Amino acid sequence: MGIKKQYAQKRIKELSEELRRHNHSYYVLNSPTISDFEYDLLMNELMTLEKMFPEFLTSASPSQVVGSDKNEGFAQYPHRFPMLSLGNTYNIEELYSFDERIRKATDQPVQYCCELKFDGTAICLTYKNGILVRALTRGDGTIGDDVTENVKTIASIPHSIAKEITPADFEIRGEIFMPYEAFDRLNLQREEDEETPFANPRNAAAGSLKQQDPGIVRERGLDCVLYHLLGENLPFNRHYDALSSAKSWGFPISEHTQLCNGIEEVIAYIRSWDEKRKYLPYATDGIVIKVNDLALQRKLGFTAKSPRWATAYKFKPEEALTRLISIDYQVGRTGAVTPVANLEPVQLSGTVVKRASLHNSEQMEALDIHINDWVYVEKGGEIIPKITRVELSRRDSSAQVPQYPTHCPDCGSELVKREDEAKHFCPNSDHCPTQIKAKFVHFISRKAMNIIAGEATIEQLFEKGMISDFADLYHLTREELITLDGWKERAAERFLESIENSKKAPFHSVLFALGIRHIGETTAKMIVSHFHNIDALMGASREDLLAVDEIGEIMAESILQYFADPKHSELISKLRAVGLKFESEGDKGRISDRLEGMTIVISGNFSVSREEIKGLITSHGGKNTGSVSKNTTYLLAGEKAGPEKLKKAEKLGIEIIDENSFNELIKH
Ligand code: IVH
Repeated sequence: MGIKKQYAQKRIKELSEELRRHNHSYYVLNSPTISDFEYDLLMNELMTLEKMFPEFLTSASPSQVVGSDKNEGFAQYPHRFPMLSLGNTYNIEELYSFDERIRKATDQPVQYCCELKFDGTAICLTYKNGILVRALTRGDGTIGDDVTENVKTIASIPHSIAKEITPADFEIRGEIFMPYEAFDRLNLQREEDEETPFANPRNAAAGSLKQQDPGIVRERGLDCVLYHLLGENLPFNRHYDALSSAKSWGFPISEHTQLCNGIEEVIAYIRSWDEKRKYLPYATDGIVIKVNDLALQRKLGFTAKSPRWATAYKFKPEEALTRLISIDYQVGRTGAVTPVANLEPVQLSGTVVKRASLHNSEQMEALDIHINDWVYVEKGGEIIPKITRVELSRRDSSAQVPQYPTHCPDCGSELVKREDEAKHFCPNSDHCPTQIKAKFVHFISRKAMNIIAGEATIEQLFEKGMISDFADLYHLTREELITLDGWKERAAERFLESIENSKKAPFHSVLFALGIRHIGETTAKMIVSHFHNIDALMGASREDLLAVDEIGEIMAESILQYFADPKHSELISKLRAVGLKFESEGDKGRISDRLEGMTIVISGNFSVSREEIKGLITSHGGKNTGSVSKNTTYLLAGEKAGPEKLKKAEKLGIEIIDENSFNELIKH
């Protein structure tokens, strides 16, 4: 074998492995490790090599199969029509070749339907007699995850449509996405809860759609746009007509879709959107170009992975070059220090960027960033843009290596960095003013105690010495408040009213409000559904905590540490005394204790909805979790239960029960 060929074989293997790894991070973990652009470059290299050396091309190559998003926690169903991917290019020239290939298949002028390429996660909806019966993710293209209950929480997707006007049986496919506004809200919350923020709106959408609890999905603010109607003998000859009809039936169809006669009009459409897309309230990563004539589409057909009648032109991620002026080190409510870059203001995606997060000291070292460096910033939908790299060729003698602080910029305590954490911490959690104020801001936030006030109010009350722990808020008086600068009677009354109202907040919100490290809003809910009241939680041992599926070592340690501190038990007594809830309301809805202490995983479909089954489990004192582990008591398997779950239960010797046996268990 020649060197070239040998090299090609080795490189094909490397690229395939690397792409498979990235597919897993992207589609299953929803946490990509490289940018789409870098991914496409690797894929392009693989395809070029496979074209040059077809003897090394296998049907399992990532160039031939679509990445799989299948997860264990969902029932799975086959797709009626395979759900494919799209060929793509970053190069206008290649669109001419695409057009040439299409024109070879017809002697008529070609009309294209141009659409935005929405950056979300693909969905396939099946309607029978006007009713939405199933929503499947793309999965591996052949079999998808059943996310019907989750999809039903998305307001723009109709649950039913007048059956007289639509075909009796059809599928409609599109994209579920998260608008920037919802994305920003979610990530702010996650940062605050010390949960890893989503890298971009696409991952946030895909991750949200794969939540086990539709209640959480509803809160995530997902939206949907549909772009492909499928079925047997549908009464349309053109793709655009099908979309127009779907729009008239009440489906969310993009208003930016446009018919183009010939490739030049397509290119003009692309050019116009390269700029305009920056002002859209959601992320797009390109333009999809589809042959409008359905007969011509059929004639062109498909390759293993994508239709020949469509392609995507992708926009390069936008970046801007600017200068790093200085770095601030911000202390958060948990004491975590975040370096934030101050930049020379620069225009990027329609806004002026002045600051960028640098995450932690390791990130700064990885970038080898110096003060006064020229740096590239990229947005990708985040509120705070990120610095992607340094333009080393422009580094001059004014460049200075940044000195990571050794002491807290606010209280002066020596910072600590634990081996297993990326960030430095100010350990002075009880006396560092920045941390205390940030803890108050968290305590009053919407998903915690929902007290209507801003940071400025907290600052003012704290500086005046009126609040030092959370319980102090509940002893504030109107007389005290109106002595403060700028406070009128009405404002004081409203503030006090809101404080009074906060006493109604459920236990999980109170638990979240306490600000225990690593306990976010979702985890707080899970803890409450397991322990029901604060005494049970405070009395829990490490083993008790670890027995809860969602609680790992780090969380368990954090909970134990929190309650081991007498100051915290004292605080809880004070908060109890003022009337905050430390017991879950859920207990009142208890029907029986028949499932007390049991952990039940459900899979598949039942005679009633999965939500109802979950409700039955908790109302009889049991706990429902998403995946089978050694702590599972039963796997409740319905029709089409996930094979992975069944296998795992068998392996771990966990009893598998059906719906009838379950009903027996809870019978009085
Ligand atoms: S058509 C066989 N149209 O992009 C037809 N896809 O990279 C394939 N996407 O899997 C889909 N916007 O999830 C189509 N207007 C649009 C789209 C679109 C976004 C997604 C879709 C697809 C992926 C391919």
